[in-house]
Amino acid sequence: MERLDVRPGGVYVDATLGGGGHSAEILRRAGPDCRLLGIDRDEAALERASRRLESLPGTKVFVHGNHGDLGRIADENGFDAVDGVLIDTGVSSDQLDTAERGFSFRNDGPLDMRMDPGCGETAADLVARLDAAGLADIFRRYGEEPRAGHVARAVVKARDLAPITTTGQLADIVSRSLGGPGRSRGHHPATRVFQALRMEVNDETGELERALTGALEILAPAGRLAVITFESITDRMVKTFFARHTGRLVSLQQGGERWEGELPRMSPVTRRAVTASDEEIAVNPRSRSAKLRVAEKTGRM
Ligand SMILES: C[S@@+](CC[C@H](N)C(=O)[O-])C[C@H]1O[C@@H](n2cnc3c(N)ncnc32)[C@H](O)[C@@H]1O
Repeated sequence: MERLDVRPGGVYVDATLGGGGHSAEILRRAGPDCRLLGIDRDEAALERASRRLESLPGTKVFVHGNHGDLGRIADENGFDAVDGVLIDTGVSSDQLDTAERGFSFRNDGPLDMRMDPGCGETAADLVARLDAAGLADIFRRYGEEPRAGHVARAVVKARDLAPITTTGQLADIVSRSLGGPGRSRGHHPATRVFQALRMEVNDETGELERALTGALEILAPAGRLAVITFESITDRMVKTFFARHTGRLVSLQQGGERWEGELPRMSPVTRRAVTASDEEIAVNPRSRSAKLRVAEKTGRM
């Protein structure tokens, strides 16, 4: 909230409404004259969050959609010069903890993983359709699984015997192929593979790239963009995006100065990624891999 610089009467976009925790705090700080646009691709989350936020001050607009379409959604709802955009990427605790949504290797459920259960291919469809090379590519790219090829071959071998339709089945196959739970220090051996499939099913990197571009378009001068990521691949994307737009002014020999870098311009608010404190991790262990980066759109264009 501090780095997003939430101010009374401001105009904000929460591009990942989720449980509405961040939005609740934005509304409390920005007060009765503020406007907030909350977006989520998960209709159940949207419904729950809008109920939770009902009694808080401010004008709220909730939209079911993908934040990749941020520019269009904001435009259609009259949010064209906003003071702040927050993108808290990935899966929510609600989604992770609901076995039927199929995100978790700890609770058995259908192998689904779609954040919007109304559209697209499920993780089970993906696991059934791709060949070993295709699966390995996803496990490597989005999960940074060091033994991606080996795990992918184990998955293909197992699905030839019986279709893989549940999270428990997949967790077992991956875990056995990696030598069982004892082999991965600190986390479940299927963590990387589950993360990779979830990111592919929901095109998380594609959506994020489009959301960053859209956010920059709708920010007013001095508006701030705050992004929280949980994986190294998405953190790298944010870092690169900010670096691309936070060029520098170079002095010209003939006098004056010239901007080096892409337009529009941003200046960094956080020099390095901000991570959770030990106290926060103690009460909210899922914050341990969170990285926050914030940049401000510059006034001069
Ligand atoms: C980490 S949670 C956000 C939690 C939220 N900040 C809070 O305070 O409760 C991420 C949310 O973003 C949503 N989401 C992920 N990708 C999305 C996308 N491309 N478009 C819209 N919503 C998305 C998920 O459905 C999930 O509800």
